[in-house]
Amino acid sequence: MTDAETILKEVDTLTKERGRRPDWLKAIFALLQRERPHYNWVGFYYLSGGELLLGPFVGAPSPHKRIPLDKGICGAAVRERHSVNVPDVNADPRYLACSVETKSEIVVPIEHDGEVVAEIDVDSHTPAAFGPDDQALLEAVARHLSPILGQATTRY
Ligand code: SME
Repeated sequence: MTDAETILKEVDTLTKERGRRPDWLKAIFALLQRERPHYNWVGFYYLSGGELLLGPFVGAPSPHKRIPLDKGICGAAVRERHSVNVPDVNADPRYLACSVETKSEIVVPIEHDGEVVAEIDVDSHTPAAFGPDDQALLEAVARHLSPILGQATTRY
């Protein structure tokens, strides 16, 4: 299994290509999915107008293109301003179903200047798929993206 440090170097390379590569964020998610096959859906929600809007993702299309901040695991991660790891989505009343195959989910907020500006959402078909290493990897990716997203003036 490729170690987190190597993955983060590749994330950095893809980030630096963003000027000439419009799909750079999706490429980062594809990289994460390739290196961690239990990441069945990897996607990006960003805050706009007081709600979460779906950005680039890899995996099956999601019915949740907009999520109010008081809904879902995604809304909880913004409100709580920390990662939310749900080992059994069907046992969590906050869960907004995307796919019947999803068994567990982790949502990691991306902060900039003390505000949550976006988040990385990962779903797995495996129950309790996400451990401390997954959380650490995704939080490192979120920290890496933070200054870039904070400067972004366009939609993702
Ligand atoms: N399950 C999420 C909704 C987004 S989908 O997973 C892509 C939630 O409960 O907020």
